[in-house]
Amino acid sequence: MDISHIEHLGIAVNSIEESLPYYEGVLGLKCYNIEVVEDQKVKTAFFKVGQTKIELLEPTSPDSTIAKFLEKKGEGIHHIAFSVADGVANALKEVEEKGVQLIDKAPRGGAEGLSIAFLHPKSTKGVLTELCEDPKK
Ligand code: CO
Repeated sequence: MDISHIEHLGIAVNSIEESLPYYEGVLGLKCYNIEVVEDQKVKTAFFKVGQTKIELLEPTSPDSTIAKFLEKKGEGIHHIAFSVADGVANALKEVEEKGVQLIDKAPRGGAEGLSIAFLHPKSTKGVLTELCEDPKK
């Protein structure tokens, strides 16, 4: 696969609203988008840091995977997302052939209109890994 850059870091938070004073007030970043991703039961907030983004993830339901993550580990880094220049479908096929356990067998829709898929942390040295591409590019 052809990773071009880190697209975003996903960070689990209890509350986006309560996180803004840190990200905006202390770090001086600007939240440019807040979006609910229904099928993942999360509310997301985005900040740009160069060509990489920070994606805050707040659960919208107690059975959200983010709610379970917060319960177990508390707030903190949840996943890393790589932008793949040759497409998520290609990358999935390639890593599956290399024995990587997939969470998503096929690309699906994520926040910001991206096409995304997750690799299982069991196969990625403990880091939940997202592959993504912008279908508009
Ligand atoms: Co993400």
